[in-house]
Amino acid sequence: MNVEEMRRAVAERAASLVDPGMTVGLGTGRTAALVVRAIAARTLAITGVATSEATAKLAGELGIPLATLDTVRRLDLCIDGADEFDPRLDLIKGLGGALLREKLVAQAAARLVIIVDEEKRVTRLGERSPLPVEVVPFGWTHTRDRLTALGVIPSLRVRDNQPVLTDGGNLLLDCRLALSIDARLLGAEIKALTGVVDHGLFLGMADTVLVGTPSGVEELRRDR
Ligand code: 5RP
Repeated sequence: MNVEEMRRAVAERAASLVDPGMTVGLGTGRTAALVVRAIAARTLAITGVATSEATAKLAGELGIPLATLDTVRRLDLCIDGADEFDPRLDLIKGLGGALLREKLVAQAAARLVIIVDEEKRVTRLGERSPLPVEVVPFGWTHTRDRLTALGVIPSLRVRDNQPVLTDGGNLLLDCRLALSIDARLLGAEIKALTGVVDHGLFLGMADTVLVGTPSGVEELRRDR
């Protein structure tokens, strides 16, 4: 199985968890797009809550009815991708630029199912991926310097020589992490900085991680 096939396999498995009548958080990224397509193919009567404008557009094109997060108190399920997962099922998310809406939707869901290929597996967070941090544009260089003072190495995300803007109109600072971080402490320190909107550490949030491997889908569940 190549990576694309592994992603399709986990997307199909995740879509099979969706029952008629559910309200489902729809994640963002390549793997999440596959699950949106797989859900649409099942033609179930569900309501989706999109985690980005891109996902809302895709779901709309596929005929999935959408609700906004503010019209929904509780979602049955949220299915999303990730950039890294560790043995505790803690995650780094946000390379797709949607971490804030993803976190808001995931927090409102009874269950968060993460779908990844096995290249996302790490022994410690930050091993391969930078940690995305969403910051307000005003005074962003000061916020960047405060992040640096916490021991991370931030760089502004740019595309085509322009800063990338999130759906909320904010900037993203991709932060390289030191070898030995305490993710909970670092997450709290980053979140406490004025100018930071949120970060891509999703700690203790994933209930299930479905991992696409060459031999099939591996299901990991978080101990409670
Ligand atoms: C977007 C995300 C994505 O879930 C993450 O980047 C994984 O995307 P992909 O499936 O394309 O690798 O966090 O903000």
